Amino acid sequence: MLEVRNLKYAYNSEYQALKGVSLRVKQGEMVALLGKNGAGKSTLFLHLNGIYEPDEGQVFIDGEELKYDKKSLLKFRQKVGIVFQNPDDQIFAPTVEEDVAFGPLNLGLSMEEVQDRVEYALSRVGMSGYEKKAPHHLSGGQKKRVAIAGILAMKPEVMVLDEPTAGLDPQGVVDLSKLLRELNDEGITIIISTHEVDLVPNYAERIFVLVDGLLIAEGTPKEIFSQPEILEQANLKVPIVTDLFQQLEKDGFDMQGDYPLTIDEAKDKFLDLLNKN
Ligand SMILES: Nc1ncnc2c1ncn2[C@@H]1O[C@H](COP(=O)(O)OP(=O)(O)OP(=O)(O)O)[C@@H](O)[C@H]1O
Ligand SMILES: [Mg+2]
Repeated sequence: MLEVRNLKYAYNSEYQALKGVSLRVKQGEMVALLGKNGAGKSTLFLHLNGIYEPDEGQVFIDGEELKYDKKSLLKFRQKVGIVFQNPDDQIFAPTVEEDVAFGPLNLGLSMEEVQDRVEYALSRVGMSGYEKKAPHHLSGGQKKRVAIAGILAMKPEVMVLDEPTAGLDPQGVVDLSKLLRELNDEGITIIISTHEVDLVPNYAERIFVLVDGLLIAEGTPKEIFSQPEILEQANLKVPIVTDLFQQLEKDGFDMQGDYPLTIDEAKDKFLDLLNKN
């Protein structure tokens, strides 16, 4: 449903940040984009709802090509909402509630509907009670949550989140991962970039790996994390539980099949190995 075809983009017509990226994300999927600092993740994301216009290539939603006139952009942005890497780029209203209300107001909804959506969105990100606060007085993690609420309030079909867990405390990371899974279960397509490889296999159905403006791999977490050359090129590591089992194997343990990627898989594997020994 969301498709990018041969996207190329250069900053100031000299630095080629995207060198021909193509990808497809199906309706209802939850996918992760991985890649080292400077790989082009944010640049790619800023194309997904038309904030950047590519030098070459196209973006499609539901088979319809994105055009860059005001009216088309407005329509497209109702469907695809992006949460920026830096919440300060996103939040600008004097109070939290005005900030979250900004998008829905632009959709021309009634005051009552806007109020409902603001309340709903703030409660989903755990920020109820902060309505009257000034966003610039919030902590980094709180700002991030408000930025996410602002997009949620638009009720998009697709949510694109650029490193949404960066700067959150450990419980915040878990809560946000859970929220994203819930939203995905409710039918929202989710595209996320992250450096948190430990959590990715818990929620991502597919992973895209970006290196220097090019996608070098795409596959399930199992496929991606079993290719050391790909991981090395992208400065990635396997999840910590996978690392543990790989080290155990080096020490002579017979792994009997795949390495686990998540705590749950590791638990099953561990019990399995214990029973067999
Ligand atoms: N406004 C800009 N002007 C010039 N170059 C830029 C600009 N923004 C980004 N770049 C360059 O484009 C490349 C891709 O940057 P981008 O922000 O997309 O990377 P990223 O994968 O999101 O990295 P990170 O993990 O650090 O967020 C980098 O080399 C960066 O220096
Ligand atoms: Mg980035």
